[in-house]
Amino acid sequence: MIKSIYILFILIVGVSANEKNNNEIFTKKICTQCHNFDIVLDQKGDTYFWNKIIESMYGNGLQKLNGKEKNKIINFLSQKNKNEIEQKFRRKPLQY
Ligand code: HEC
Repeated sequence: MIKSIYILFILIVGVSANEKNNNEIFTKKICTQCHNFDIVLDQKGDTYFWNKIIESMYGNGLQKLNGKEKNKIINFLSQKNKNEIEQKFRRKPLQY
């Protein structure tokens, strides 16, 4: 029983790590056609922010992405600094 929970845990962690990795590789492939990846990674934002950026890249000549492709990119980019961003927008702890 314990053993099967353990195996399940490894599987779940493995699958989600893999998905993150795939999204990263895909983002890199699409977003390094015109500039390096650093100018992308330097920016921090939520899904709304990255959606806007992708829309603006169409104006620079980015090939039209389908919904699934766009989601992969937005998922990776909005997750990469998630903790930092949440900290920034979180109000100060209440003082008692
Ligand atoms: C067809 C070419 C092209 C593709 C593909 C492309 N970009 Fe860009 N990107 C540009 C150009 C041109 C600039 C403007 C560079 C500048 O002004 O210095 C830019 C600038 C940027 C900037 C910097 C904006 C700023 O003001 O600091 C970000 C962030 C960015 N791109 C993200 C992305 C992301 C994310 C992708 C992948 C979805 C992507 N780009 C794909 C052409 C492209």
